[in-house]
Amino acid sequence: MARSFDTRPLCPALGAEIIGLDITAPLDDETMQDLYDAWRDNIVLLFNKKDMTQEEQLRFAACFGKIGERPKPKDARPEDYSKLDAAFMLVTNIRENGKPIGTLPDGEMMFHHDTIYKERPHIGTLLYAIEVPSVGGNTKFTNLYKAYDALPDDVKQKIDGRKALHLYDYDRISERNTAEGAGDLLERYSHPVAITHPRSGRKALYVNRLMTAEIEGLSHDESEEILNLMFDTAERPEHVYDHKWTPGDLLLWDNFCSSHARTDFSDGEVRLLRRCQVEAESAPAA
Ligand SMILES: [Fe+2]
Repeated sequence: MARSFDTRPLCPALGAEIIGLDITAPLDDETMQDLYDAWRDNIVLLFNKKDMTQEEQLRFAACFGKIGERPKPKDARPEDYSKLDAAFMLVTNIRENGKPIGTLPDGEMMFHHDTIYKERPHIGTLLYAIEVPSVGGNTKFTNLYKAYDALPDDVKQKIDGRKALHLYDYDRISERNTAEGAGDLLERYSHPVAITHPRSGRKALYVNRLMTAEIEGLSHDESEEILNLMFDTAERPEHVYDHKWTPGDLLLWDNFCSSHARTDFSDGEVRLLRRCQVEAESAPAA
């Protein structure tokens, strides 16, 4: 039977736009299976729906897995979060009385995987654009299947069976997170340097420039050399999609086979997006 929606590739590296589907209407099993397959194959899916409510976003997100808990510890969240459904976090530079009402407010953010520093990272992120700047504040995505495939054979051998340590201090978004000098909120966990995606069965690189501190069991210099090569490979233009947001855009992405970054934008313009996440069936495994 024909699919109930069309797809349009976003760029050669990854990503597809889903066209002709109302994601706030009930979706039948066949359509859901087609969407699930499209997500697995394209890594990032783009939908557009104006004025989507929190409830509608949550109901749609729940089609892709169990809704994940907001990662930031309670005592580190802005006070305003009491008004928001517990699953959401606001990504915004809006301030009230000088204090940001959301998280990750300003400027550039280096490539990262959402919640990779936890034992059970969330596989899916759904980010909905409410208000966006006229220039910048884009989200860039890497295809980490392609990045893994592009690694030299000796590097693939060297990382085989190894783990990398990931660290995150919730305020450090534009410089590498390492243990030295990190704040109280620093979270950490080690995962395999390359993982087998639980849904596609394909191997993906699982490190990023913002949060990956070291490859365990190697000297500092060797770890740095291999990590930098892997970061550079992941971020090559032919492995990247650069998304310029339009209000009403909802992006669904897979954190087990892609990383993402934010480009800089003017602090004179408002950027407001609403994020929720879905859990994976299992922890990332080699
Ligand atoms: Fe992120």
